[in-house]
Amino acid sequence: MCGIVGYVGNKKAVDILIDGLTSLEYRGYDSSGIAVNIDGKVELFKAAGKLQNLKNIVEKNYNEISKSTIGIGHIRWATHGAPTVENAHPHSCNCGKVAVVHNGIIENFKDLKERLEKNGCTFRSQTDTETIAHLVATKFGETHNLTEAVRLATREIEGAYALCVIHQDVPNTIVATRRNAPLVVGLGEGENFVASDVPALIQYTKKAMYLEDNQIVTLTPDSIKLIDIDNNKVEQKVETLPWEPVALSKMGYKHFMLKEIHEQPDVVRNVLSGKLRAIDENVVLKEVTLDKEKLKNLSRIQIVACGTSLHAAMVGKYIIEELCEIPVDVEPSSEYIYRKTITDKNTLVIGVSQSGETADTITAIRQAKSKGSHILIITNRPDSTMAREADSLVPVNAGIEVSVAATKSYTAQLISFYLIAIYMAEVKGMGDLSDLKHELIILPQKIEKVLAHKEDIQRYAKAFANSKDFIFIARGINYPTALEGALKLKEISYINATGYTAGELKHGPIAMLDESMPVLSILMSGKVYDKILSNSEEAKARNARMIALTDSMDDKLNELFDCIIRIPKISEILSPALAVVPLQLLAYYIAEFLGKDVDQPRNLAKSVTVE
Ligand code: F6R
Repeated sequence: MCGIVGYVGNKKAVDILIDGLTSLEYRGYDSSGIAVNIDGKVELFKAAGKLQNLKNIVEKNYNEISKSTIGIGHIRWATHGAPTVENAHPHSCNCGKVAVVHNGIIENFKDLKERLEKNGCTFRSQTDTETIAHLVATKFGETHNLTEAVRLATREIEGAYALCVIHQDVPNTIVATRRNAPLVVGLGEGENFVASDVPALIQYTKKAMYLEDNQIVTLTPDSIKLIDIDNNKVEQKVETLPWEPVALSKMGYKHFMLKEIHEQPDVVRNVLSGKLRAIDENVVLKEVTLDKEKLKNLSRIQIVACGTSLHAAMVGKYIIEELCEIPVDVEPSSEYIYRKTITDKNTLVIGVSQSGETADTITAIRQAKSKGSHILIITNRPDSTMAREADSLVPVNAGIEVSVAATKSYTAQLISFYLIAIYMAEVKGMGDLSDLKHELIILPQKIEKVLAHKEDIQRYAKAFANSKDFIFIARGINYPTALEGALKLKEISYINATGYTAGELKHGPIAMLDESMPVLSILMSGKVYDKILSNSEEAKARNARMIALTDSMDDKLNELFDCIIRIPKISEILSPALAVVPLQLLAYYIAEFLGKDVDQPRNLAKSVTVE
């Protein structure tokens, strides 16, 4: 939620800020702005709507704006106040000398605002962020030291924040700090960077330092000073970023989403690499640090996640219960944190998150950790908050995912669950799993086959693109696949799509069926195949437009279904990892056919750092 970027050095700051915001656009995109220093004066440029609107303003004023070699920028996902120019960041104080960009929520902003207004501060926006600008300006008036002003301000702020501040009277200096929101510093030669996330830095430097909560960094072109909120000097831990700039290019695909769907065969190979070496060898999962004796004695597993990661978790439940015979509960993190959860040291709690920054999941794992549970995190971002708080960290190695709609990270999460379940089953001595291991090894080829037939799915997408609603049905291990297919479709095409367990259809949803309603049945071979077939007959009898997604060559299907999406034969337990691919493609092609903004759907953000 919200992306921030800062630059101080010897180059035109505006170019780096705009590039940085472009690469952070996935974090929010309802308004944006920059603050630069032109001829000794802090100037703000802001625009409502997509980043392109800010780019247009910058282009018109480029000669002026490009004089500055320092600046901060922001791309917003609105929490307090509508996405207008007034509410866009950066925000400033009465005298206009301070500029602040902020990601997060200031929980005590009403009290702070009231106090600041009494002291003569005039607010121009409805945002919580503006309180920080006034507060820093007030503290600067008392201390004449920007770092100290920010430090004192943060002592009064409650809530979550990553923020960058500049001040007109302190040239060539950015002060940045964080609490429960990500911030990374990039180290260059005669220049330094700060941003919410690595994509904004990676084309300039691979040397980086992740800020921890309550640390305050002061950047100039030639120096970086790090202190904590109590003014103690802190040792700087500089690391080399593992990412390549090419990961952020569309590589010839029309959208990142399509590119990321196509990366899935390699993603599966990557996740398996070094962990599943041969079908007659045990899975190696050094990342799971839970003592093997404790693992054998686990009484239960709880998995917490949100959105697409929650669907991966639901598949994970089926796999772990099937292979390890340990009871597993799955719950949206946002629900888990507001009820009394029964957790102890014999409970393993697994948090699943692409970004590793989802606020609800972070709160959930912290809650579980405080009760003594071992916390295992499955994330695509080994540099994230969740990763740092994990007892066991299983990185999914999907590479940076730019499209807001998660695709390759979902598949990578699923594969991680297969590996974890096999590992645990082997530790518990649950029997031979060589068939499943063999299937996992050849899964990338099957995904490649699905991708090779994408034109068929594109054709079906056109035929169904004008539907107002869409129903996905499945049973058992593919019920989460139905939910994920529906989520992908609704989030990028805005079609009202819902996933149901096929058996529930007749308990209410069947009332909605008529000749205008597409029903997509996920009919994978296995113990529930015949059941779903019967449920599909029931839908057909109500004149629904029937689509099958199946690995079966059964001729009967031709009579029942208007369209059949066939995928290679696969065992029921592994089928979610293959069946989701055509559903991702279907959602993609429908949204693309409708002319939607596929990579940046309205109202969404990739990293949801507010509860
Ligand atoms: C859907 C999507 C979201 C995320 C959810 C959780 O395509 O991307 O539903 O899955 O916001 O995010 P993470 O996985 O980063 O915790």
